Amino acid sequence: MTRDEPRWRIVTVTLATEDPPLETAPDHSDNPVSRETDLRSVRLAVINQKGGVGKTTTAVNLAHGLARQGLRVLLVDLDPQGNATTALGIDKYADNPSSYDLLFKGPHEARWTPTKYEKFDLYPANIGLIRAELDLLQRGDDRQVVLKKALDQMEFPHNVIIFDSPPSLGILTLNILITSDAVMVPVQCEFLALEGLSMLLETLEEIKETHNPLLYSLGCLVTMVDLRTNLSQQVVSDLRENLGDQVFESMIPRTVRLSECPSHGKTIFEYERWGTGARAYEALSREVIDRLGIENPNKAAKS
Ligand SMILES: Nc1ncnc2c1ncn2[C@@H]1O[C@H](COP(=O)(O)OP(=O)(O)OP(=O)(O)O)[C@@H](O)[C@H]1O
Ligand SMILES: [Mg+2]
Repeated sequence: MTRDEPRWRIVTVTLATEDPPLETAPDHSDNPVSRETDLRSVRLAVINQKGGVGKTTTAVNLAHGLARQGLRVLLVDLDPQGNATTALGIDKYADNPSSYDLLFKGPHEARWTPTKYEKFDLYPANIGLIRAELDLLQRGDDRQVVLKKALDQMEFPHNVIIFDSPPSLGILTLNILITSDAVMVPVQCEFLALEGLSMLLETLEEIKETHNPLLYSLGCLVTMVDLRTNLSQQVVSDLRENLGDQVFESMIPRTVRLSECPSHGKTIFEYERWGTGARAYEALSREVIDRLGIENPNKAAKS
């Protein structure tokens, strides 16, 4: 078995949730809800309608972290700000096939761009994405499923597709949530963190009920934590008390290195491999693999 054909690429990913089953896969009847993605990539949304909470930092560094664990990862930058694209050193004004093309031009004209990192590809945002919301709104009844339709007609060699989303619950974010298998929510460790979060979690439940019953809540990720302060400790303990294991065990510390690396076009793993930021995103990558139920790619590749 070569590294390009690892066993885990065809390992079925089973996502279990506590919701009543709507589409139960026959092979996994012991799980409350099973979903087989088989050869299809697992689609993971990183969302929060609040700005500046660490969505992009998480999408980029988690994507690289998962690639470093041996998964083939595709990051789709669907935020018109294009911060994930810039953070990876790619020019959002360049004429690369973009996430806009993915949405509107069909599979033949829209191919992803490799990043400088192994096993890590990107659909960059480009300036055209600014008009995507408008274009989507002008579509007919299928305006909420444009992304899903585009992705469903393509074949991806990737194990995981991660979507970075804009700070709103507009039509782009709805497209992301409808096409995703799982969603994670970065939450900035600050006063009243829980207040905005409960509203968002209620909205996610509504979207599950109305649009995507199999959407799996992977968890909330506490970002920009400084456990030396009483405030951070209090916020973390409140979040854990209220949301239990919905909160990832991994937490992302506040570190200036994480805020510096995008301007160098580098992920934290390249910028400061042994710092607290890289270690935190490495731990998060392992936890995400675990929560998604993906067989550990490193183990599979070695066996
Ligand atoms: N753990 C961290 N420590 C220090 N700074 C951080 C950390 N995470 C993110 N930042 C910085 O905080 C700012 C907001 O982060 P980021 O862009 O990831 O948030 P976002 O939720 O994607 O924002 P937006 O909603 O505008 O897309 C950025 O300047 C980023 O570099
Ligand atoms: Mg962002």
